[in-house]
Amino acid sequence: MTLHWYFYSDTNARADEIETILTDKNQTLTSFYRLEDLLKQLESTPNAVLFLKAHATYNVYELCQEISFKYPHIYLIVISPENLENTKKAMQVGASDMLTFSSTDDEITEVVFQAQAYMKQRISREPSLQLMKENSRVIAVCSSKGGTGKTLLTVNLAAELARDGKEVAIVDANFQFGDVAMYVDIKPKNSIYEWVKEGVERGEYGIESYLSHHKSGVSILATPPRPEFFEIMTEDHLEIAMTELRKSYDVILIDAPTYISEIHLKSLALADEILLLTTSELPDLRNSKLYLDMMETLHFDEKVKVVLNRDSKYRTVEEKRMEVILQKPIFAVLPDQKQLAVTSINEGMPLVIKSARSPFAKGVQTLATKLMPPVEQPVKKLKRLALLSR
Ligand SMILES: Nc1ncnc2c1ncn2[C@@H]1O[C@H](COP(=O)(O)OP(=O)(O)OP(=O)(O)O)[C@@H](O)[C@H]1O
Ligand SMILES: [Mg+2]
Repeated sequence: MTLHWYFYSDTNARADEIETILTDKNQTLTSFYRLEDLLKQLESTPNAVLFLKAHATYNVYELCQEISFKYPHIYLIVISPENLENTKKAMQVGASDMLTFSSTDDEITEVVFQAQAYMKQRISREPSLQLMKENSRVIAVCSSKGGTGKTLLTVNLAAELARDGKEVAIVDANFQFGDVAMYVDIKPKNSIYEWVKEGVERGEYGIESYLSHHKSGVSILATPPRPEFFEIMTEDHLEIAMTELRKSYDVILIDAPTYISEIHLKSLALADEILLLTTSELPDLRNSKLYLDMMETLHFDEKVKVVLNRDSKYRTVEEKRMEVILQKPIFAVLPDQKQLAVTSINEGMPLVIKSARSPFAKGVQTLATKLMPPVEQPVKKLKRLALLSR
């Protein structure tokens, strides 16, 4: 569950103590100084706790009432001067809890704890509140032929994005011979197969307990334990899985199956972006061009980004020439990492972790940044100043 923590005051009042307490709990506090920014944010956020600080320029109780009417899903905490009358007023206008200007760290911690516990319970009771994560992105990794490096790229890109602080999941869509779990040395207890049999077929779509977790922070929806089980898997299952995963993950990478099938096409349709891996060998370029033509027919061409894999100084076709053949720019280049790539697979450790300075890892880092440039935090880490006292 992702809970958003907001602070509003139309002065530059700082929320340092609240922020420090939340940071200790690995949570982030976002401050708003303009009411319209705050309201816009509340509209798109299903799970949020809002600290509203009283100030002379507006009536905090009226504001609290307005917000609780408009956004009943928001957990409101009013911060006001200490007196019993204010506590009563806050409760009457729909506040869930309250703090005073002189609340101690322990009191703030308790209020934060209560908010977390309440929101957790409410979300588990009302799954519809688990709306999709804002900006959650699905990226499909595909190629026109097998062995191009899809799985190697998928696990490395996932680990790199997780290192950047993103919540990342991989869906291994090779339902017959998928090997994502093996590439990171995980023996999955559950897979998409168990999720379909035990959950989806009974109308229960919760997917979290069917994922396997790697120490890099990446979660994996593994392929069925036996190749013949793939038969029960349909493209609708892939779609439901994606809807579920979008609720909790910032990025979902699909390691797409090599052969064009309903599942393959569904992976492309569900993706916001498609990474098409190719090498510089002529037959591969030719097939990649055919693949790109197919994308155009399916109206997916705008989503496609070409990634040149196994690049080396011995290649015979120049990058410019490749772009002419493909009629598409090359978005990123990953070098041939020779034996180190195989060693990383055998050890089950992505290169971005095992050898972060290797050329392949650096190529993946550049690709990750190009795909998801780091966003500036709206509130900088502030020095620990006296909070709330004015
Ligand atoms: N940049 C690279 N440098 C060195 N070796 C690479 C590189 N990319 C891929 N390989 C090697 O190529 C082989 C195939 O890679 P991978 O399994 O990732 O391909 P794939 O496209 O997922 O294959 P499949 O279609 O069978 O699923 C692996 O042995 C991998 O180590
Ligand atoms: Mg593969």
